[in-house]
Amino acid sequence: MQASSDSDPVPQHVAIIMDGNGRWATRRGMPRIAGHKRGVERVRDIVEAAGNLGVKTLTLYAFSTENWKRPIVEVAGLMRLFRLYLRKESNELVRRGARVRFIGDPTALPADIQGLMRELEDRTAANDKITLQVALNYGGRDELVRAARQIAEDALAGRIDPQTLDQDGFARYLDTAGTADPDLVIRTSGEYRTSNFLPWQSAYSEFAFVPECWPDFTPAHLERVLRAFDKRDRRFGAVAR
Ligand code: FPP
Repeated sequence: MQASSDSDPVPQHVAIIMDGNGRWATRRGMPRIAGHKRGVERVRDIVEAAGNLGVKTLTLYAFSTENWKRPIVEVAGLMRLFRLYLRKESNELVRRGARVRFIGDPTALPADIQGLMRELEDRTAANDKITLQVALNYGGRDELVRAARQIAEDALAGRIDPQTLDQDGFARYLDTAGTADPDLVIRTSGEYRTSNFLPWQSAYSEFAFVPECWPDFTPAHLERVLRAFDKRDRRFGAVAR
């Protein structure tokens, strides 16, 4: 599959709910964290493949505001993996020309992880081959509430006029400000839910639900989903052309 062209359009922004790590591991008699470890390896492959296929923005749902409810050992294991990923992949992401940004509320994350996140954002700020948006402690409702709170504060302080606030103005208060909405949202592992992922931004996205658990989701699967996307007729509420 070629990078974006008129006859073979590739979705510019692909967002992925990387689900099924736990089940992948459990089915193999392994601890859940083994599935997350394999999941990190898939992140590496899919970031590379997406860039090569011409995707300009890839958003990955790594940890939700609800994931804190998991057993403490699993949460601690995930934090260890994030820390390792941020340390180990940094040079590779710079080399690949990826610009990394994080969405979600970082304040509940361990301080050293927050530092690594800022460092990676700074180091990759000038890159433009692909933007990798990592949702870490992200929840769509949480994002909307934080935006509403900031809007209320700005209105009270006289910085904005509520009467003139429109959809574009509202979107500028979201974590994703400045990023186009996802064209395609993929969820792995055969579950048909969106789980609080980008509720505002995905209002007109196409959705693809694939049966593979995330550790089994390869670049070939991604390519297949992108080909199927190409056949869809996106109307954004209008009529067919
Ligand atoms: C869902 O599987 C996966 C997660 C909650 C964590 C996703 C994290 C990674 C793939 C690793 C790191 C990512 C980055 C960007 C470094 P699940 O545990 O909900 O699986 P289950 O539904 O089978 O239990």
